[in-house]
Amino acid sequence: MSTPFYITTPIYYVNARPHLGHAYTTICADVINRYHTMVTDETFFLTGTDEHGDKIMRAAKKENMTPRAYVDQISALFRDLWPQMNISNDHFIRTTDNSHVAVVKMILQKIYDQGDIYFSEYEGKYCFGCERFYADRELVEGKCPDHQTEPEIIKESNYFFKMGQYQQWLIDYIHAHPDLIRPERYRNEVLSFLREPLDDLCISRPKSRIQWGISLPFDNDYVTYVWFDALLNYISALGYPDGPQFTKFWPVVQHIVAKDILKPHGIYWPIMLKAAGLPIYHHLNVHGYWNVAQSKMSKSLGNVVEPLQLKNVYGLDAFRYFLMREMVFGLDANFNEEALVQRINSDLANDLGNLFSRVVTMAHKYFKGVVPQSDVAVERELAMGLEEKAGRAVVTYTEEMTVFAFHKALSAVWELINQMNKIIDVTAPWELAKNKACQPRLQAVIYNLLEGLRVISGLIYPVMPETAATMQKHLGCDATQPFYKIDIVKKWKVLSPGTQLPKSVTLFPRVEIKKEADAMSAPDTVQAGVPEFKPEITLEDFTRIDLRVATVKRAEKIPRAKKLLKLEIDLGEPELRTLVAGIAGTYTSEELIGRQIIVVANLKPAKLMGVLSKGMLLAASNDDQTVALTLDRQMPPGTRIR
Ligand code: ME8
Repeated sequence: MSTPFYITTPIYYVNARPHLGHAYTTICADVINRYHTMVTDETFFLTGTDEHGDKIMRAAKKENMTPRAYVDQISALFRDLWPQMNISNDHFIRTTDNSHVAVVKMILQKIYDQGDIYFSEYEGKYCFGCERFYADRELVEGKCPDHQTEPEIIKESNYFFKMGQYQQWLIDYIHAHPDLIRPERYRNEVLSFLREPLDDLCISRPKSRIQWGISLPFDNDYVTYVWFDALLNYISALGYPDGPQFTKFWPVVQHIVAKDILKPHGIYWPIMLKAAGLPIYHHLNVHGYWNVAQSKMSKSLGNVVEPLQLKNVYGLDAFRYFLMREMVFGLDANFNEEALVQRINSDLANDLGNLFSRVVTMAHKYFKGVVPQSDVAVERELAMGLEEKAGRAVVTYTEEMTVFAFHKALSAVWELINQMNKIIDVTAPWELAKNKACQPRLQAVIYNLLEGLRVISGLIYPVMPETAATMQKHLGCDATQPFYKIDIVKKWKVLSPGTQLPKSVTLFPRVEIKKEADAMSAPDTVQAGVPEFKPEITLEDFTRIDLRVATVKRAEKIPRAKKLLKLEIDLGEPELRTLVAGIAGTYTSEELIGRQIIVVANLKPAKLMGVLSKGMLLAASNDDQTVALTLDRQMPPGTRIR
């Protein structure tokens, strides 16, 4: 019996249209869900919209609409977008659904009856953007770290959930379940939140201030705090308390969220579950931000990337592939279209597309498109080792997919693609074709290459379902068979000799690189061993970049920014310059002081986490680390690099 699988995305606020960030999380969930359909029969994939609260009420007012009409309109944008992204969700939940409202009331009443909720007056700093009170220690220079606005002082009577009493339980639970929250950096972040005393959670808002919400079952003058309402979607969608789907899928639930909502998912949610007497989720999988020009994409910053536009220009599978391959799950990534075009041209058109068309074209040329018979003795003599290579790719791929390391799983597939391209070069089928005596060898080579492509088509299915189907059709796979099931993918010699193949197709046409693409906003990760070079530039282009030697005088971590260090550097100018560098994962502040680094001195200043950075440090960077470029002997600060 296979284990069921349940995956959720955050339910998105309906105060803005869907953007690339929402698409990324939802595509991750789709990929992992499809992957699990390869290994198990029963999966459940949930997404939806978060529709209550002040933020939504205000957005509706701005549009001159009733909250109900407004949420219906924006929720539909999300619901209608997902099928266009080939998202295979089983259910789309809305927090305005009656069944959800009933569950929220049921849980509130249960927790209230057991004495975990009390009424009290409270005065505190309230961020309207986040719709929550902030403790002073959580603010950065007195401002909300997410909205960079000063919270307002609010005094009101409210209901509080006794979260504090569960603090030690949660710490112990996280220690006992080391991969509850992953990747590890986010587990550590939650544990570090929990080093401070945990305040009780204000779970109500007076109707005198906010009316758009779920009324408290025990006091009709209040509505439920939007997070307490929203988190419960994960159980209400399954028919809590006794629906058959709840019984089957709740014990295996996994969530995907970005780091912005780590605290509600890493702290409030497990404590709510514990208080409600429910099992805690299996894993909380946390990813980083897609940034545009180094800033988080958001409506307020006006740097939103529309997923549909990209899909329409570049094709859906290419877009999905790019998102999964480019971002290291857990870390931030920079979005720019040039990087997307590069991935399409190199990974998809060159590597996979060429391999596919080379092999299928040769099958047509040498065998009239009929899958040839391959002789085991000849294969042994040829020693291509493709079966072993494919087997290794499947093993690595499955290990990495299980832990949401999509980029590594895809890397394993691309290693196989590259090995197959090399096999073609080494075996040179066009030479074998010239000699009748080499016919058995030619048959063995082409058959094994076709098999390798079949394995690849299965492995790319979660990320690129349409391309997988096209490949399988052109490899003569019987459409009625589940060729994407891992048990079939990992077998060898599945294709039937004698099958007539349809003519080859171009899987991915090359895309012209736009000349005006901004070379400075290149992706910050480059896969080791597979360098991808940018188009040529002239010396004149290069000399526009003012590279200088600088000495680090001071360095400190930027609160709440895991990767960023704020450096004060001497560039030979009258005053020190401030520069923000994403190297906190590799260096401590202390070890940088006194070091000489190389900086782009004439880069347009940009604000990062509220700090104005004037320039950029040069570093060698891959998926694992970012190492600063230094000099091997001292030079005066400000010396030009040429
Ligand atoms: O927080 N990069 O909804 P939300 C990557 N309603 N992912 C991003 C992103 C970016 N730049 N921007 C947004 C809420 N996301 C609550 C959730 S759950 C019970 C309630 C994605 O509309 C990412 O998944 O602000 C992030 O966690 C989520 O959208 C926030 O969506």
